Amino acid sequence: MPVRGAGFRRQAAFSCLFGGGRPGNFRREPWPAHHAPSPAPATFPILTMAEATSNNLMENVINLCKRRGFIFQSSEIYGGYNGFFDYGPLGSELKKNIKDAWWQDMVRRRDDIVGVDSTIIHHPNTLRASGHVDNFTDPMVDCKESKQRFRADQLFFAPVIVAGETIGYVSVLEDEAMQAKAEQAAQDMKRKLAKPGDLAPIVLKDYTEATPEQHALVPSPATGKPGSLTPPRAFNMMFETKVGALATDDSISWLRPETAQGIFINFKNVVDTGRVKVPFGIAQIGKAFRNEINPRNFIFRSREFEQMEIEYFISPDADWAKEHADWIQSCLDWFVSIGIPRAKLSLYAHPQEKLAFYSKGTTDIMFEYPFGIQELQGIAARGDYDLTQHSKACGKPLEYFDEAAKKKYIPHVIEPSVGVDRTVLAVLCTAYYEDEVEGERRTVLRLHPRIAPYKAAVFPMVKNNPVVLERAEKLYRKLKRRWNVFFDTAGALGRRYRRQDEIGTPFGITIDFETVGIGKDGAAIEPDNKVTVRDRDTCQQVRMTEDELIKYLEAQIEGY
Ligand code: GAP
Repeated sequence: MPVRGAGFRRQAAFSCLFGGGRPGNFRREPWPAHHAPSPAPATFPILTMAEATSNNLMENVINLCKRRGFIFQSSEIYGGYNGFFDYGPLGSELKKNIKDAWWQDMVRRRDDIVGVDSTIIHHPNTLRASGHVDNFTDPMVDCKESKQRFRADQLFFAPVIVAGETIGYVSVLEDEAMQAKAEQAAQDMKRKLAKPGDLAPIVLKDYTEATPEQHALVPSPATGKPGSLTPPRAFNMMFETKVGALATDDSISWLRPETAQGIFINFKNVVDTGRVKVPFGIAQIGKAFRNEINPRNFIFRSREFEQMEIEYFISPDADWAKEHADWIQSCLDWFVSIGIPRAKLSLYAHPQEKLAFYSKGTTDIMFEYPFGIQELQGIAARGDYDLTQHSKACGKPLEYFDEAAKKKYIPHVIEPSVGVDRTVLAVLCTAYYEDEVEGERRTVLRLHPRIAPYKAAVFPMVKNNPVVLERAEKLYRKLKRRWNVFFDTAGALGRRYRRQDEIGTPFGITIDFETVGIGKDGAAIEPDNKVTVRDRDTCQQVRMTEDELIKYLEAQIEGY
């Protein structure tokens, strides 16, 4: 049975030597030291990510997201909707900044990549030709008694063997502790049935490997009793819709499950109009929809999410392994450039035997999420499969004429594909810290300034002095023309700092009496026309002029 992940989507088997990238590939200069994912400031005892993990990092991140308006459960007023999430005022800024940074680095700063923005609903033949209609499936198993549905490859079972005799089966849902849970359940069964003798080691297999006899014997994880689980069935994950007024079979189409097909079906348009030459790429950012059987881990696996994808077209004669390795390196570099530490990223090359026939290799970039090391991005070498399929299905040649080589061919592709929401989650989990400042515990999001929702907050030292207030407002308006900046007059300065620390605002800018030339007794003094800039991570403060401030912010936020 073709199952998602076992060949259809991502393929690879290839250990890369991750050498330098191709000239022109994305490379950023390192950020100024204190913003290259911030180390703990020496003066403050801070909770490291590892400690925070053991203290429920995931729960803390989710709570912060809700408390400060980053991410909400969708349709919350109706009790929420499983697998769907809404981004609030701060979350939508963070997400947009991540997408903008990606577009800037992957499209605009390169000479060999252009963008498209295709529709979410394609002509239905698109997803037939690509294989999604027949093969974009997950193996699903139903519990007839509880009416719950599980992914068969996430439901694990094992025979309980005592003194060589199988006395029953145990089942568990995939998680970090599943082995321990299964062993405990086996011990309980042995005790309940009063079976003497040694318990054989519990060897878990996933339910797709169960035999027809075992289907009847494996207990449902919902009820704990055998006999109610169905055999695994292929469940197509696409959301179906009907297009037009007549709801007939001909009007069926689907919400796209990936943005990639919108790129392939525009290949000819881009070649005919875009003055592009192989090797070149087409990028797209947009929504994708998958009816996940088991959405989980907050925004990690949801039913509506966003992808940032590139189809990078190369000659069939090109060294695909080098192109693939270059892309892996570029993608790793990009994650590091937005503040994800390299140490939290690893590579997983898909085994050769799991690849689809057309695929040359797939390597996933994995991130150390609090719930385990999981896929953040897939980078697949897909040969000429997709363009060939579409060419056959639409009856039009989707070839490229290579002027230099004087020949026509269907290009091969390297496909880097990353989820925006998984990147948001990786960034939040990386940035979340708790530490102590001036004897007070604070939560701080050490977001890279480039992606932080607010780049700076402007604080008039006092709110009851019109001169200070006016000067602060003027600076705020000036900065706001260029960046998203916050203005806050409410409460003691320390409290205002803390509120911004918690949402990741990297710089606090204070306008005080000296700035505007008011002495201690209220008498006029020479204004120094300087503002105080406080760094979120080190809490260090520096005084500078407005011109210096603009240059400083430019360097910190934009990297030049
Ligand atoms: N065009 C190739 C493709 O779609 P994929 O591995 O299925 O490949 C690419 O998806 C990326 O999309 C993943 O690495 C992940 O970051 C993101 N993604 C996939 N399914 C997701 C889901 N249900 N929720 C959130 N992100 C998802």
